[in-house]
Amino acid sequence: MEKIFVQNEKIALRPVILEDLPKRVEWLNSEPILRWMNAGRVTLQSTDIWFEKNKNDPSKLHCTVLCAKTGRALGIAGLTSIDMKNLNAELYLAIGEADYLKKGLAPHICGLLTGFGFESLGLNRVYAFCYADNHASLKTFLRAGYKREGVLRHHAMYDGTPKDRLVLGILKGELVLL
Ligand SMILES: CC(C)(COP(=O)(O)OP(=O)(O)OC[C@H]1O[C@@H](n2cnc3c(N)ncnc32)[C@H](O)[C@@H]1OP(=O)(O)O)[C@@H](O)C(=O)NCCC(=O)NCCS
Repeated sequence: MEKIFVQNEKIALRPVILEDLPKRVEWLNSEPILRWMNAGRVTLQSTDIWFEKNKNDPSKLHCTVLCAKTGRALGIAGLTSIDMKNLNAELYLAIGEADYLKKGLAPHICGLLTGFGFESLGLNRVYAFCYADNHASLKTFLRAGYKREGVLRHHAMYDGTPKDRLVLGILKGELVLL
């Protein structure tokens, strides 16, 4: 069983384990996550393959987010493209359980994982992407101390419409303690 590696009074993070996969599939196929992450539909079979491929890859840390009080799994977060030469990584997060949405948890998840990247992995920079109209995501990153660094114009398609993506980034020392 993978252990919790970082936690605060609200949430805890641990690497994804096999038992998490059915929930991960359910969440990734849910309307808000399909819409805002645009990763496409997944199946349990494709996610099993993804898990085997990723679990020992040092450039990826895919996590399950737990409620610190109850231990219930509520979402996903991760650092990907971990680059130990240039000391940077990309962060993603999503809350899958509807009853944990709009509770102000997202900046805590973002801050906790970003802080882990700086303090434990020794990164200098963490970055993220979000659609320009993903207001909840943008506010989450800004609350945690990320800066809006640029716009990738018409970088993605959603429902036949081109969409801009924002680049957000944070340097060591800029993290906001929530
Ligand atoms: C992005 C996400 C994690 C945010 O979680 P959440 O529970 O909705 O947001 P929170 O309640 O934690 O609020 C975070 C901030 O966003 C703001 N916010 C939330 N929903 C909002 C909305 N619809 N419009 C504007 N602001 C919003 C909150 O007010 C808060 O900002 P504040 O602290 O300055 O008041 C969640 O919406 C989600 O999982 N979305 C789908 C996946 C995704 O978009 N991931 C991000 C791309 S990597």
